[in-house]
Amino acid sequence: MLPQRVLEEIQTNRQRYVAELKDFLRIPSVSTDSEYDKNTQESAKWVVNKLKNLGFQTELRETAGHPVVCGHLVSDTSLPTLLIYGHYDVQPPDPLDEWITPPFSPDIRDGYIYARGATDNKGQCLTYFEAMEAILAVSGKLPLNVKVLVEGEEEIGSPNLGPFLQENLNELNTDFIAISDGSQFAPDIPAITYGLRGLSYLEVGVQGPRFDLHSGSFGGLVANPVQALSAMLTQLKNEDGTVAIPNFYNDVRELEPRERQEMADLPVDEVALKKYLGVDQLVGEPDCSIVECKTARPTLDVNGIWGGFAGEGAKTIIPAKAGAKVSMRLVPNQRAATINELFKNFVSSIAPPGVKIQISEMHGSDPVLVERDQPAVQAAARAIEFGFGKSPVYIREGGSIPIVGLFQEMLGCKSILLMGWGSPDDGAHSPNERFSLEDFHRGILSTAALYYALEESFEG
Ligand code: BES
Ligand code: MN
Repeated sequence: MLPQRVLEEIQTNRQRYVAELKDFLRIPSVSTDSEYDKNTQESAKWVVNKLKNLGFQTELRETAGHPVVCGHLVSDTSLPTLLIYGHYDVQPPDPLDEWITPPFSPDIRDGYIYARGATDNKGQCLTYFEAMEAILAVSGKLPLNVKVLVEGEEEIGSPNLGPFLQENLNELNTDFIAISDGSQFAPDIPAITYGLRGLSYLEVGVQGPRFDLHSGSFGGLVANPVQALSAMLTQLKNEDGTVAIPNFYNDVRELEPRERQEMADLPVDEVALKKYLGVDQLVGEPDCSIVECKTARPTLDVNGIWGGFAGEGAKTIIPAKAGAKVSMRLVPNQRAATINELFKNFVSSIAPPGVKIQISEMHGSDPVLVERDQPAVQAAARAIEFGFGKSPVYIREGGSIPIVGLFQEMLGCKSILLMGWGSPDDGAHSPNERFSLEDFHRGILSTAALYYALEESFEG
């Protein structure tokens, strides 16, 4: 599959790839925070520059938000085309004092590189470029045509990428899409991800009196927004862990027997998991395994809540307002737009008297399911086997990559290959995020093999 000389080239350049990853990781491209706008821009330019050095035709493309990096390298028009998607933005690094070394000063310890974005997604994204570099260095030409789309708003729900796709449908037309923005099932258990959860994210605001009141003068007479909010939030879930919003489960697709069996066969160490999480009990739905609960079932979580007095000492008030952010992870065939409506209707219907509520939508992205029985997926499996020395398991991921549903819908591409090189304990979004250098290397080997395997699998 992979020419021996390419393999040697990758082995020879291991150290240099790590040095480049360090450069990429030094740029604090936090997309949520406008204080970092210069840096997100710089990070986008870093990608442009890397692609230019590979011979890509590429440029920064402006959007209403952070720019998109688009590029292509045509090898031979009779060959199939692969679109590589990744993101150059990262999550905010806080809490800063929990980092052993600073988040944007990449540090190597015990075979891991530690930095914000190491696994999510700079390290994984870079594997695709380094693999191409090795192939180009050895043979001067890629085994297929490659397009690249690297965005800077994945961590904020890709609000401007849908419109960008719509405006550039022809340019992004492709036979396959490859994405490495998840992880292996566990360290040393590489996986092909055939499902992603979707996301509905809303904010609920509760307004009581016009201003904070003396709770002695008015207590007993005026509805309390913090309590009104708490009462509503409590009603969103049943005691058995299921979501209480009427019709919430209507569109949930049953697991196929094959999937249920595969999920049961995946090795899960419940004791180790609880220890890692620091909890003494896991919760979930009745009759659902751990893997099912975290990847194949929809959920609802309150992400944050505010309102009233939380400072030192006691302050006797009835607060004027309260609010909460609530997200729901969705599974096939739920739709974010439908779930948003169900949520709004239900919450409005249970609002207690004496307060006004306001609900606004934040993100919405639909869940994804990829057809597994297709040559491109088998090619990906062979590539992973080459890179990792073992064949992948098939999993669904609990997380979301907002644009993937739109890739299916708008680009009409069925061959979406989701292959995570990292590990679930890389600490994505957490302090001390890391990426194993071994996984980085195996990712480069796998992507190099993927380019050849996809070309070999192509049926036109
Ligand atoms: N890389 C993750 C998605 C992911 C997480 C895949 C876990 C597989 C397992 C991605 O960068 C991410 O964090 N996505 C967000 C999307 C949200 C901000 C709209 C998520 O899932 O919360
Ligand atoms: Mn992320």
